[in-house]
Amino acid sequence: MSKANLEKKPVDVARMFDGVGKNYDLTNTVLSFGQDRVWRRRTRERLHLRPGERVLDLAAGTAVSTEELATSGAWVVACDFSQGMLAAGAHRDVPKVVGDGMHLPFGDNTFDAVTISYGLRNIHDFRAGLKELLRVTKPGGRLVIAEFSTPVVPVFSLVYKEYLMRALPMVARVVSSNPEAYEYLAESIRAWPNQEDLARAIRECGWVDVGWQNMTFGITALHSGTKPAE
Ligand SMILES: C[S@@+](CC[C@H](N)C(=O)[O-])C[C@H]1O[C@@H](n2cnc3c(N)ncnc32)[C@H](O)[C@@H]1O
Repeated sequence: MSKANLEKKPVDVARMFDGVGKNYDLTNTVLSFGQDRVWRRRTRERLHLRPGERVLDLAAGTAVSTEELATSGAWVVACDFSQGMLAAGAHRDVPKVVGDGMHLPFGDNTFDAVTISYGLRNIHDFRAGLKELLRVTKPGGRLVIAEFSTPVVPVFSLVYKEYLMRALPMVARVVSSNPEAYEYLAESIRAWPNQEDLARAIRECGWVDVGWQNMTFGITALHSGTKPAE
């Protein structure tokens, strides 16, 4: 199998997502065996959102993550640089803004909480993204990142690697409108830092109280942090 190019320019990443928007939600649910819904609920719970809080859901794509967060009663805005993904979520009744995670179109200290689900890995310079998220968060505000991670059970880890490299691209060829994007997905998950290394990067970008919890044996992890109080 040819390797997907992980050195994609931001404009190519946006174009790639423009192309998968239509079947994105369904493909996710099929490829994750329905776990995506559980992971989204746990992300919302981890954020401890309160009604009326202002929340940024960065790399929101079709706003499937935003819709789940908004069930808390918080005001949640979806931001993504792929107009195709946002358009595929046009039926979802949440505010949507086109914007780049490395140059967010929001002022300093705007949000009570910021979050990003399965998007940090796609941001060209993810450290720049973490710093931008810090800038737009109020002092004392919360960060939660949901992202693919490194399975912590060795036997399971082997099975998962096989799934990522063989089965996932095959299934994607059947259900997705852009299978190449799912080869990129598999490659980008393999190249992504493990739980501990990501936590270190988050701290280095200025967040404090950084920790994580694994979901589904570490296939995904929720990293959290706080912006230091002034
Ligand atoms: C895998 S999707 C995640 C969508 C959604 N959050 C979810 O939970 O399903 C990743 C999203 O990241 C977006 N993305 C990648 N780089 C970005 C950037 N620099 N700024 C904004 N969005 C970005 C893509 O356009 C894509 O919609």
